[in-house]
Amino acid sequence: MNKGFISVVLLIAGSASAAWAMYSNSFYDAPPTPALEVVNADGEVVGEYRAPLARDILSEENAEDIIYGMRLLNETSRLLPDNVGNGLNCNSCHMAQGKRPLGAPYINTVGDYPKFMPRSQAVLDLTQRINGCFRRSMNGEPLPDDSAEMHAMQAYMAWLAKDLEPGQRVNIENMDYFKVGQYTPDPVRGERIYSQQCAACHGQNGEGMKDQFGDYIFPALWGDESFNIGAGMARLSRAAPFVKHNMPLGVSLHAPLGQIELSEQDAVDVSAYFTVKPRPDFPDKIFDWPGVPNPPDSRY
Ligand code: HEC
Ligand code: HEC
Repeated sequence: MNKGFISVVLLIAGSASAAWAMYSNSFYDAPPTPALEVVNADGEVVGEYRAPLARDILSEENAEDIIYGMRLLNETSRLLPDNVGNGLNCNSCHMAQGKRPLGAPYINTVGDYPKFMPRSQAVLDLTQRINGCFRRSMNGEPLPDDSAEMHAMQAYMAWLAKDLEPGQRVNIENMDYFKVGQYTPDPVRGERIYSQQCAACHGQNGEGMKDQFGDYIFPALWGDESFNIGAGMARLSRAAPFVKHNMPLGVSLHAPLGQIELSEQDAVDVSAYFTVKPRPDFPDKIFDWPGVPNPPDSRY
């Protein structure tokens, strides 16, 4: 058997297991997460966290808001065409509806803001942080601060943390900032990995793939329908850890399915390949990192 054949088989198996995971969790919920530690302000373990299930939203007083927020995060491009300037949804990057450690989860988000952001050298509240993703990751326009949509997205994020007491957080990382800098990126090798492990879904030219309704099933990785150069994902230090732990899709589902696992070097190489491809500009980039040097992996 040649390698190409094996990867196609693994890919089909991976997609099938992802489909099964969706089917087995009706109401398009994310697969249940394992128990995670809850820690207090001193870092002591004080309990256990499991992401709540979508079907339990109905017992919440503000159920309508939470469900609207969940839909907006899942179907952003379709529901908010005036605010989204590409083919992405929030949850194209915030994996498993923001419930997955190392997949840019929203689990601790509500408690972590306001927060100092090095990129703006300022303390940002959650509304500003979300609008940062609208302007950069979604290459679009910010939502009005007091809109029903902004409120609903935050209601969903607050619901994920509903069982945490003030000062508590779940002991997880949003991204594994493994020392990307200790690897020498090889984009030529990255291109090969891209063809073998990514192109079947994201397209040979990074263009992604649409379903029969014109919605993306596999999001674009570069070009006009992708995130702009101001997005976190355009930086190697963000893209490589994301790719390592979340791609190819289905990689984390247990054996015998989804066994293709990238090494850190693989993730660095493939990310060095796709992050520098042409993508929309971000004119407000001139306001980033005011008074401090831009980090070495910024595109500007
Ligand atoms: C192209 C990928 C991408 C898309 C699309 C995207 N984000 Fe993000 N987002 C990121 C990355 C990367 C981070 C930084 C994660 C980190 O380092 O913790 C982030 C961070 C965030 C944070 C801060 C999380 C925290 O706890 O610190 C919020 C909130 C957020 N995004 C909301 C959104 C919303 C809402 C949308 C849709 C309007 C969106 N994002 C779209 C990639 C994306
Ligand atoms: C089986 C199909 C599949 C394969 C193979 C795959 N992806 Fe993805 N990828 C997805 C889907 C689907 C999403 C959106 C997340 C979701 O819906 O859960 C995504 C999201 C992403 C994102 C964030 C969204 C965006 O468009 O920027 C990046 C970056 C990414 N993939 C990179 C890669 C890389 C690099 C590889 C190869 C190592 C890869 N993917 C392989 C299906 C796949």
